[in-house]
Amino acid sequence: MLQSQDLKRLDKLFSSMQEANGCFLGYPFARGFDYEPLWRFMRLAGNNLGDPFEPGTYRVNSYEFECEVIEFFAQLFRAPPREFWGYISSGGTEGNTYGLYLARELYPDAVAYFSQDTHYSVSKGVRLLGLDHCVVRSQSNGEMSYDDLAQKATRTRNRPAVVVANIGTTMKEGKDDTLKIRAVLRDVGIGAIYIHSDAALCGPYAPFLDPKPAFDFADGADSITLSGHKFLGAPMPCGVVLSRKRHVQRVMRAIDYIGSSDTTLSGSRNAYTPIILWYAIRTLGIEGIKRMFRQCEQLAAYTADELNSRGVGAWRNSNALTVVLPPVEESIKAKWQIATQDVSHLVITPGTTKRQTDALIEAITNRGR
Ligand SMILES: Cc1ncc(COP(=O)(O)O)c(C=O)c1O
Repeated sequence: MLQSQDLKRLDKLFSSMQEANGCFLGYPFARGFDYEPLWRFMRLAGNNLGDPFEPGTYRVNSYEFECEVIEFFAQLFRAPPREFWGYISSGGTEGNTYGLYLARELYPDAVAYFSQDTHYSVSKGVRLLGLDHCVVRSQSNGEMSYDDLAQKATRTRNRPAVVVANIGTTMKEGKDDTLKIRAVLRDVGIGAIYIHSDAALCGPYAPFLDPKPAFDFADGADSITLSGHKFLGAPMPCGVVLSRKRHVQRVMRAIDYIGSSDTTLSGSRNAYTPIILWYAIRTLGIEGIKRMFRQCEQLAAYTADELNSRGVGAWRNSNALTVVLPPVEESIKAKWQIATQDVSHLVITPGTTKRQTDALIEAITNRGR
């Protein structure tokens, strides 16, 4: 039994997280979901230790649901049937590290290229894995500069290339083009190429955009990752990582202790996040994902227009849910949790309301009046 002061602390924490959930516009984290039918699972121990596609000694898992989520995204990402593999990770960072790990095992002497707008998890990944790397300049909309990639790759054209392509950069939701990346590298004479698509935010809706960004397996990706909590909506961080099966077979080790193969980055893995993501995709379906995207995109368009009409230079990449604006002042940044570097941004994810964006617009444009 908790003592009353501890119960009070829990109540206080709940209120403060609830308040912060209500003013959360600067980072992508969908809200407003209802996973009540899954609460009973919290009474059970669960662990997805091991390879979800193999039976093991350890049965306290949700592999069946994990595999269905992987198959759903494999189809969306045009993976060759029966030649893909994947698992549900702890989030985009693990997915990026895993993609880089598979790439490093294939090409240990590769140079990793990624743009300056790339999420910090990638530079951490290359440091962890001891990969040589080269940062490529970005265009002003956040997309990689292919000219700069060509110039830099020419200097190391005798070594394999690993490229992390952003399918939605963190700050501006700029999208790199995997077809262009492959063409640039081939033109400078590099034949050994591995492309990892970091689709942390856009992964669930990128396949439905018009024009569809070039990022998936049919567009030459070797691995792809997305975050589960950013657009789909999971109350805790999680992610999906998919890869061509032959890359995973290279890292696979049989482990007697678990009666399964070790193919994932972490050992013990969350058994609940696969159930949550399965529930999300089953309840939404493809039509639901498209509908949620349309609603978010309309609100993003409205927000950018409204800011512009009030004299704030806001803009969006086409089909983006991220509204980029000049840096906001400290009090607004703190209240609305607005990510700010050289620019600020807000990200309209499912659960963001017009009331919230209106309140933010009001705070930005009426300050000091
Ligand atoms: C483009 C991109 N990649 C990776 C990540 C890392 O994802 P996570 O926070 O799920 O580890 C982020 C997070 O913001 C991101 O924006």
